[in-house]
Amino acid sequence: MKVLLIGSGGREHAIAWKLKQSPRLSRLFVAPGNGGTADIAENVTLDIADHEVVVAFCCAQRIDLVIIGPEAPLVAGLADTLRLSKIDVFGPSKAAAKLEGSKLFTKQLCVQKGIPTATHAYFDRLADAQKHVEKTGVPVVIKADGLAAGKGVSVARDMESASDALKQIFDGSTPGSGAGVVIEEFLSGTEVSVFAICNGTDFTLFGDARDHKRAFDQDKGPNTGGMGAVSPSGLLDENLTRQISDRIIAPTLKGMEARGEPFRGVLYAGLMLTEEGPKLIEYNVRFGDPECQALMMRLEDDLLEILLASAKSEPAKSPIRFKNAHAVCVVLASKGYPGQVETGIPIEGIPEQTLPGTEIFHAGTKWQNEKLVSNGGRVLNVCAMAASGKEARARAYNILDDIDWRDGFCRSDIGRSQQREKLK
Ligand code: AMP
Ligand code: GLY
Repeated sequence: MKVLLIGSGGREHAIAWKLKQSPRLSRLFVAPGNGGTADIAENVTLDIADHEVVVAFCCAQRIDLVIIGPEAPLVAGLADTLRLSKIDVFGPSKAAAKLEGSKLFTKQLCVQKGIPTATHAYFDRLADAQKHVEKTGVPVVIKADGLAAGKGVSVARDMESASDALKQIFDGSTPGSGAGVVIEEFLSGTEVSVFAICNGTDFTLFGDARDHKRAFDQDKGPNTGGMGAVSPSGLLDENLTRQISDRIIAPTLKGMEARGEPFRGVLYAGLMLTEEGPKLIEYNVRFGDPECQALMMRLEDDLLEILLASAKSEPAKSPIRFKNAHAVCVVLASKGYPGQVETGIPIEGIPEQTLPGTEIFHAGTKWQNEKLVSNGGRVLNVCAMAASGKEARARAYNILDDIDWRDGFCRSDIGRSQQREKLK
């Protein structure tokens, strides 16, 4: 089979790496890809925003399956255009991608289907939003309604930050602004990410993970796309997993189907494990990055088969098999991330061959004059798998010690913050 994978992050390198293990794969294109995918697949330059350009490429190359990695092309309706042209695609339609594209849409679906989540109110005028916050008090969570690449959420612990967050949404300086604000009850508990491969009517769980969203150790510093991940999370048992399936994921799929907008693709549920049980924080309509890298390390089954079944609305193999091992992914980022970063800086010391059970997935890298240089905020993902989380961590950090890149930084506590919390 010929596959076109869309995206350029560590998530896409990990997906490409796993697809390459499928006996059914004959050729893999990645658009635009990165320095890592260039080594294992064919990077192509396509204007992803121009959906007809993607269709033309698929027809010319006789692509059998398109896999859309990031959310932006999904929210823009790329999957719809491909399906209209009879090209199989892994990823939801524009209408179903609203589960990530609009916080308000998801909140309304939760209310309608009785899905446990934080209570919310929606405002399209600053004065009304401010009045509401004065009434509810803090802590409170303020979210721009639109797509915001993880930057549209503010957890306000005092009135001043709440007021600033609201002003920034209404003056347009917060990403995702322009469509009003969702103000939520603050949930306390432990966060966990759960993934489900969906075929429109049905789903199969695709593992769980724990992200590390803050830039610095001990969960300090600004929110990022994710500085590291571990899988499994170590936070779920059979009972919790059943609650998440039955009370959150299943009614979501039913609700979407009933609206005539069935969800196909991977549904990523960001959850808070509260004293009252698991509650939905948010949905994403694609794999998490860097959670995907840790999941791919552990996946035993053929990824191509799984994604193809979802694309064709066929039942997924159930259960999907994962190695009974712990995977850790540590992100090496450019100094300054998640703010402005310098790019084009050479990276040295990446081992030519990784030890079994370890992988280095590239994110913001590219080849320039036969040298690997940085090309973004998150640059490399050092992953390791082992029988215990502790061993996996040690292996990942050993590799990081050898990578020579003075302009980068990583957290030194990926996987460990969870142990600390558990001990509390
Ligand atoms: P989101 O982009 O919706 O995932 O939000 C980013 C982060 O904000 C989440 O990972 C949580 O840490 C936090 N967050 C979002 N909503 C809530 C909530 N209702 N209560 C507590 N924390 C939240
Ligand atoms: N790591 C968080 C995300 O992919 O949204």
